[in-house]
Amino acid sequence: MDSILVTGNGPLNGHIPIAGAKNACLTLMPATLLSDEPLTLTNAPRLSDIKTMTQLLESLGTEVQAMADGQVLALSSHELTNLRADYDIVRKMRASNLVLGPLLARAGEAVVSLPGGCAIGARPMDLHIGALEALGADIDLRDGYLHAKVSGGRLTGAVHEMRFASVGATENFVMAATLAKGTSVLKNAAREPEIVDLIHCLQKMGAKIDGAGTSTITIEGVDRLGGATHPVVVDRIELGTYMLAPAIAGGEVELLGGRIDLIESFVEKLDAAGVDVRETANGIATKRRADHIKAVDVTTEVFPGFPTDLQAQMMAMLCTADGISNLEETIFENRFMHAPELMRMGAQIDVQGGTAKVTGVERMKGAPVMATDLRASVSLILAGLAAEGETRVNRVYHLDRGYELLVEKLSGVGAKVERVPGV
Ligand code: EPZ
Repeated sequence: MDSILVTGNGPLNGHIPIAGAKNACLTLMPATLLSDEPLTLTNAPRLSDIKTMTQLLESLGTEVQAMADGQVLALSSHELTNLRADYDIVRKMRASNLVLGPLLARAGEAVVSLPGGCAIGARPMDLHIGALEALGADIDLRDGYLHAKVSGGRLTGAVHEMRFASVGATENFVMAATLAKGTSVLKNAAREPEIVDLIHCLQKMGAKIDGAGTSTITIEGVDRLGGATHPVVVDRIELGTYMLAPAIAGGEVELLGGRIDLIESFVEKLDAAGVDVRETANGIATKRRADHIKAVDVTTEVFPGFPTDLQAQMMAMLCTADGISNLEETIFENRFMHAPELMRMGAQIDVQGGTAKVTGVERMKGAPVMATDLRASVSLILAGLAAEGETRVNRVYHLDRGYELLVEKLSGVGAKVERVPGV
């Protein structure tokens, strides 16, 4: 397993291009299953999760052609030859569960493995099951698989309210409802920008959907969907991650393609911490206003609140802030795996249940640390940018899931970062 070496190397300056959103691409790709016409996605990120989704779709009969060095994906699900998503793929990537809704809508049945837990939590599927049963699916859990069928062959439109605004369950419901008979309304729907991007793509395919980005989404079912060409929206989590690099290491970095409207609650917290964020002709530029960051309290929430996917990265910055910051994680039950690793670097963090109290220290010290999940891994890289000496982040396959060309992007603004092959 490869490692990444980071050595504190002073202020950063220059530009970092931001890629298409992993979490948009992972829901746009399964949308191909809804139509027998070609779906072309541009601005696709080059990530291992995209390769995993490609493998899964190909196992169902979709043809996937990656072009332009992986930034263009041409998908065609003219004929589905298999309706089963096997455990060996699903366990690697929970987003595999996003084939459930489209398969039910297109083929009237699906067999999808439960994803199993992961480092950040149990990751249940009850909200997906409830949403699809509302549309007329019968779903049984047997031998670790969800066996789903639609009696009568076609889903029926329905009004459904979720107890929690689940991103994935919203995406499964919306995709399934596009081909249901009649009208569907999803209440307490998630509002993440990746869902808005999916809806825009589905509308290009002929779907009739209102309420994108709001808590109430209305879908009028149609008999079939056509093809489309759609650019994947910019990745707000990669964006937020790299906005923190100059805040931690000093200097000023411009994030090409960055959009403030996708990360308003995050920008508010950066501003309170003393980080200057300004829009430029090509994106967003960030730099810290003074030598030290101010402590701030953060609570993760569903969109438009502070994103859980930026909590670990924010913690990395707050480890060297002036004062005490409290970070409250309300979305996942175990998303502080980065805290003990940051403490190996000298951070002072007290985790009590869903809250982490971070007492700022003058400077962190490089150390060998372990990546545990995608966002925890990158928080360790960020901390290493300003630490004294070398930080070795092991198990960087986690990073490859969500950060394309990370070493190149950070080196390009002056960071001392290199990837070393695993032993
Ligand atoms: C999406 O996961 C993202 N992944 C996650 O990003 C992100 O952290 C999450 O949304 C929250 O914003 C993709 O889009 C591929 P949820 P998802 O359903 O859809 C509970 C990353 O780092 N829940 O909104 O799985 C669940 O356990 C990843 O890029 C149920 O209880 O998130 C969690 O506590 C990590 N029952 C909470 O809801 C269910 O049926 C949020 O889950 C479904 C979810």
